[in-house]
Parts: sequence; structure tokens; C-alpha cells
Amino acid sequence: MLSLLVASLALLSSVQATPGAIRASVSQVAAAWYAGWHATEGFPLSAVSWDKYNTMYYSFAIFLSSSDASLLPQFVSDAHANGVQAHISIGGWTGSIYFSSNVATADNRTAFVKAVVNLVNQYDLDGVNFDWEFPNNQGIGCNIISSNDTANYLSFLQELREDPTGANITLSAAVSTSPFHDSNGNPSTNVSGFADVFDYIAIMNYDVWGSWSSAVGPNAPLNDSCAAPSDQQGSAVSAVMAWSKAGMPVDQIVLGVPSYGHSYSVNSSDAFVPGTQMLAAYPAFNKSNQPPGDAWGDTGSVDVCGNYEGPGGTYDFWGLVDGGFLTTQGTAAPGIYYRFDMCSQTPYVYNETSGVMVSYDDAASFTAKGMYIKNTGLRGYAMWEAGGDYDNILIDAINSAV
Ligand SMILES: *[C@@H]1O[C@H](CO)[C@@H](O)[C@H](O)[C@H]1NC(C)=O
Ligand SMILES: *[C@@H]1O[C@H](CO)[C@@H](O)[C@H](O)[C@H]1NC(C)=O
Ligand SMILES: *[C@@H]1O[C@H](CO)[C@@H](O)[C@H](O)[C@H]1NC(C)=O
Ligand SMILES: *[C@@H]1O[C@H](CO)[C@@H](O)[C@H](O)[C@H]1NC(C)=O
Ligand SMILES: *[C@@H]1O[C@H](CO)[C@@H](O)[C@H](O)[C@H]1NC(C)=O
Ligand SMILES: *[C@@H]1O[C@H](CO)[C@@H](O)[C@H](O)[C@H]1NC(C)=O
Ligand SMILES: *[C@@H]1O[C@H](CO)[C@@H](O)[C@H](O)[C@H]1NC(C)=O
Ligand SMILES: *[C@@H]1O[C@H](CO)[C@@H](O)[C@H](O)[C@H]1NC(C)=O
Repeated sequence: MLSLLVASLALLSSVQATPGAIRASVSQVAAAWYAGWHATEGFPLSAVSWDKYNTMYYSFAIFLSSSDASLLPQFVSDAHANGVQAHISIGGWTGSIYFSSNVATADNRTAFVKAVVNLVNQYDLDGVNFDWEFPNNQGIGCNIISSNDTANYLSFLQELREDPTGANITLSAAVSTSPFHDSNGNPSTNVSGFADVFDYIAIMNYDVWGSWSSAVGPNAPLNDSCAAPSDQQGSAVSAVMAWSKAGMPVDQIVLGVPSYGHSYSVNSSDAFVPGTQMLAAYPAFNKSNQPPGDAWGDTGSVDVCGNYEGPGGTYDFWGLVDGGFLTTQGTAAPGIYYRFDMCSQTPYVYNETSGVMVSYDDAASFTAKGMYIKNTGLRGYAMWEAGGDYDNILIDAINSAV
């Protein structure tokens, strides 16, 4: 990743920083990730509802191909013109292969600090969002990992904070629902060192259930302590508890929220509570028949590890409207079955004809998450991704609740 960062810097060495950075960390985060690769797929910068946010993360530094990178100066100037902080997100699910090496030695950490500082200064960024998936815990399948990852990550961040630029910007991280793995591969019991260097963490409380699961379950459960023990696979409530117990103050925790859901192929005998037209909870699904999802869904391709991955089957919120599941008001369309699960506070829709069931988030579930953020005293929310919403239905719901 380091070499890619350096390469992308060289590519854009003529870009000059402009004044206007708003670098002080915001007290209530209203953020989203902007996926650069969707700029040419219907979500250009001009489509961003800047007035709904105070922070936007450009994703991902690893993917700064020439077209993506050429968008970054415009991203920063549009954000600043709208009073929004412009951050860069580094890594991601497919971009975490070399994090471990980049922080493995003192020399590598220093080089990585320099690359990050150069990126910030060159593009006049207000913050950096590290998206290492995951320290000492395999993500996509071919990431380099080491038992020293979490300790080295902290040393790197401490060195970044010693740099005058690094001291002056907002540092955050996208993190999993359990604390960074320690050298034994267990969730760390003391992350207070990270609380000293990060302004905040954003818990990626999504993809909790998906095509890899044993049944159809909630993509982004608010709660799971009210679910049957076998259905307790993670939630905002349990993740916030785990991180805060390990020493991350709640006012340094931002809740990651999804503007998409996961689809499953479910036949009608499994979909309904027998003898009723009510959707059943946690039904079985046909793993050999993954629905393709919406137009942004991956149709199946070879990943960065060289392995073939089948269709992802994700539906953005707009994709559910496009696909006939939801009305333009974001409610279930006529002929579509709907269930709102009280424990996870998330909805499901089902088209009996196509046999496609989707677990997703709607205005009601975003309102519930917003109220939880407010009542628990969390730092705010960060939505993956800005372009997934339809007519600002989700973002308006969570903004109203927070
Ligand atoms: C340090 O970075 C270099 C250059 O990217 C890399 O080749 C090397 O493997 C890294 N060191 C470790 C211990 O990972
Ligand atoms: C972890 O770091 C220690 C020194 O801090 C070193 O002795 C050890 O070899 C490292 N382990 C790995 C797996 O890199
Ligand atoms: C820190 O940020 C402020 C506000 O943008 C800026 O004026 C100042 O030059 C920055 N200092 C450094 C060392 O980057
Ligand atoms: C947790 O880590 C911090 C910083 O590394 C340290 O100062 C503190 O004593 C640790 N707390 C516990 C309970 O071990
Ligand atoms: C989560 O569920 C538990 C157990 O039912 C309940 O006590 C708690 O209030 C719930 N929390 C939220 C935020 O819904
Ligand atoms: C529905 O799917 C289940 C497996 O998920 C299977 O056992 C059952 O036979 C299927 N029923 C029909 C009518 O296809
Ligand atoms: C699952 O889907 C595959 C592919 O469409 C199909 O061949 C198979 O019969 C389905 N299985 C069940 C139990 O319906
Ligand atoms: C359900 O799926 C079928 C088959 O794909 C499609 O023809 C129909 O329009 C869908 N129903 C709704 C309400 O969108």
C-alpha cells in the first residue's frame, strides 16, 4: 500500500493545496464515505447532499488510480465550499494487504507517516480514516498479518501524532465490532492507548449476517442481546459495550451505519411462518442461488487475492427502490412482504415471485440507531456509503433522531 500511496502522490505532484482546511475535530460526527469508483456510475460529486454532513471520507487511498485521484482535489474543494471536513480513507476490505508490513519496523512506520503527511498536505485534507481490515485478524484472505500488528499500529499512530501535521488533523479508524486483536489473537482488553491517538473510531456494524451465514439475519443489528443465543452474532449494543469496556470512551465511538442490505434466495415454504403470510425470522436460504443485487452489486470477479468471488448480492437503498421492493417513499411496495425485527430494529422485504429476501436498513431503523447514538452519548454516525441513499430518506431519519 505504501508504494501505491507514493506512486499516486507522484502522479499528482502538480496539485497545489488550497487554503480552507477545517481541521479541529467535530464534536458530533455526521459522516459518510464517498466511494470514488461510483462517481462514474451515477453518483458524481455534484450529487452529494453536502448540507446533511460535517465530514466526508474519500475512499480509498489504495485505489487512487488516475481517474479516482483526479477527483480528489475536486472532492476536497467541494467539501470545503460546503463547510464539510474532507478526510481520506486508507485501506478498506480489498486494500489492507500491506498494512502489517507498513507498520512492522521503525523504518517502515516512519516512511508510512511521511506518506500520510504528504498526502494530507498535498490535498489539504482535514483528516485520515484508517480502514485496516484487520490487525492480526485475516480479512479478505491474503492480507499479511502478524501477532505484533496491534502494538505496531499503535506505535505508528503515536509517531504520526508527533508530526506537526499529524497532530493537527482528525484521525479516525473504521473498526470491527470487537476490539483489535492482541498478540494472541484475542480481542484487546485495553485499547486506551488508541483512545489517546484517535479522535474517534467508527464501528463497522454491518455485514454482521450475509451470504456466508447459516440463515437470513440482520445486516446491521442495533441490538442482539434480545436475540436467541445462536443468533447473537454482533450488534451496535454489544460492539459499543466491548469497545468501551476495553477503554474506548463512548464519546470517541461513532456508529457505522449501512445504506445497503444483503439479499438471499428463500423459497416460500421457508419464507413464511407456516400457515400465515407473516415473514419468518432467520429462515434458511439457498446458498447456491445468490441473487445478483442491484446495478452496483459485484456480479462476480477475481479478487485481489486471485480468488473468484461470486455475486455479492448487495442492494443499496436506492437499489431496493429500483428493484421494485420499495416505493419512492422508502416503504414496502404493493405485493412485497415486509417484516420489522424488533430486537435488531431492522426490516426485511420479500418478493415471493422471485424468491428474493433482503435484510436492510430503512428510515425506521436509522431513527432507532440515531436515538441510540443520542441516548448512549456516542460521537455520531458514519454511513457506508453516501451514494447508497435514496432521496436522503436514510440520512434525514438519522439526522433528525441525533
Ligand atoms: C518494510 O517495507 C518494505 C517496503 O515496502 C517491505 O519490503 C518490507 O517487507 C517491510 N518490512 C517488514 C518487516 O514487513
Ligand atoms: C514482534 O516484535 C518483537 C520485538 O518487539 C520481535 O522480537 C518479534 O520477532 C516480533 N514478532 C513477529 C511475529 O514479528
Ligand atoms: C493546523 O491547522 C490549522 C487550521 O487549518 C492551520 O492554520 C495550521 O497551519 C496547521 N498547522 C500545521 C502544522 O499543519
Ligand atoms: C491500559 O493501557 C494504558 C496505555 O497503554 C496504560 O497506561 C494503562 O495502565 C493500562 N490499563 C490497564 C488496566 O492495564
Ligand atoms: C438490548 O436488549 C436488551 C435485552 O433485551 C435490553 O435490556 C436493552 O435495553 C436493549 N438495548 C437497546 C439499545 O435496545
Ligand atoms: C425450500 O428450501 C429448503 C431448503 O432451504 C428445502 O429443504 C425445501 O425442499 C425447499 N422447498 C421447496 C418447495 O423448494
Ligand atoms: C438452489 O438453487 C440452485 C440453483 O438455482 C438449484 O439448482 C437448486 O435446486 C436450489 N435448491 C433448492 C433446495 O431449492
Ligand atoms: C417480483 O419479482 C418478479 C420476478 O422477478 C417481478 O416480475 C415482479 O415485478 C416483482 N414484484 C414486485 C412487486 O416488484
